[in-house]
Amino acid sequence: MAEVVIVPTPEDAATLVADAVIDLIRRKPRAVLGLATGSTPSPVYRAIAARINEVDASQVQGFALDEYAGLPASHPESYRAVITREVVEPMGLTPALVHVPRGDLAHLRTAGSDYEAQIHTAGGIDLQLLGIGGDGHIGFNEPGSSFASLTRVKTLTRQTREDNARFFSSIDEVPSHSVTQGLGTILRARHLVMLAFGAAKAPVVQAAIEGPLTASVPASVVQMHPHVTIVLDEAAASQLRNADYYRDAYANKPTWQGL
Ligand code: F6R
Repeated sequence: MAEVVIVPTPEDAATLVADAVIDLIRRKPRAVLGLATGSTPSPVYRAIAARINEVDASQVQGFALDEYAGLPASHPESYRAVITREVVEPMGLTPALVHVPRGDLAHLRTAGSDYEAQIHTAGGIDLQLLGIGGDGHIGFNEPGSSFASLTRVKTLTRQTREDNARFFSSIDEVPSHSVTQGLGTILRARHLVMLAFGAAKAPVVQAAIEGPLTASVPASVVQMHPHVTIVLDEAAASQLRNADYYRDAYANKPTWQGL
C-alpha cells in the first residue's frame, strides 16, 4: 500500500520531500530524478535548491515527465524552459544531464522510444516526483491510458488544456498534444513520490488512493507500485476515508525507514 503522509501545508510537504532527495543524492551522487512540472512541485524544488550546497549535485541526472508537442523549447512555458528555470538553474545541475522529451514536430515519431532508451542508459529513475491532474492524469497520461504504456505522444483532454490555460494567454495557445512518460515508464521508477495540495484535488486524490484500480483514473496505477509515498496537505486529504489510519501509520513509523 502507498504510504500516505498528511501535513499541514505545502511547505511542510516540500521540507519532507527535499530531505528525501538530498539524502538520496548524498547516498548516490549519480542519482536519477524524475521531474514533474506544473504548480505542485515548485515548493519542493525551492526547498531542494535551498539545501543543495549540502551535497555534490554535479552528477545528478534528471528526466522530465513530459513535454508539450509543437511548442518550441524556447517558449517560456515549454517544459524544457520550466525545468531549466525551476530545477537546473536553482539547483546548479549539469544541463547536459537533465533530459526532457523532444516535443518538436520533426522528432515526434521517435521521441518516445529515444526517451525510453535514454532512461535505460541512465540506469532507470531512482525517485519520480508526480503531481496529479484534476482528471486523474499523471504525466500527461489522460483517462484511459494503458497501464503498460511507455513514453509516447498523447492528446490532452479539454479539462487539462483548461487547467493549464493559466500558464498561457488563452486556451487556444495550450498545445493539444504532448510527449509523456507512460504509466508503464512511471511504474519502473524505484520510488514514486506523488504530491497534491488544495481542496480542488481532494476528490481525485481519494479516487486514486482508495478507489478501484482503473485506467479511468490513471493515477490509481500507483496502487501497483511497491514503493510509493503520497504527500498531501490537509485540504487535498480532506476526502480520504482512511485518513486516521494513514496518520497513525506514519506517526508510528520507525525513523530509520525514511520516506
Ligand atoms: C506535469 C505533469 C502533470 C501535472 C498535473 C498537475 O509534468 O506531468 O501531470 O503534475 O497536471 O498539475 P499542477 O501541479 O499544476 O496542478
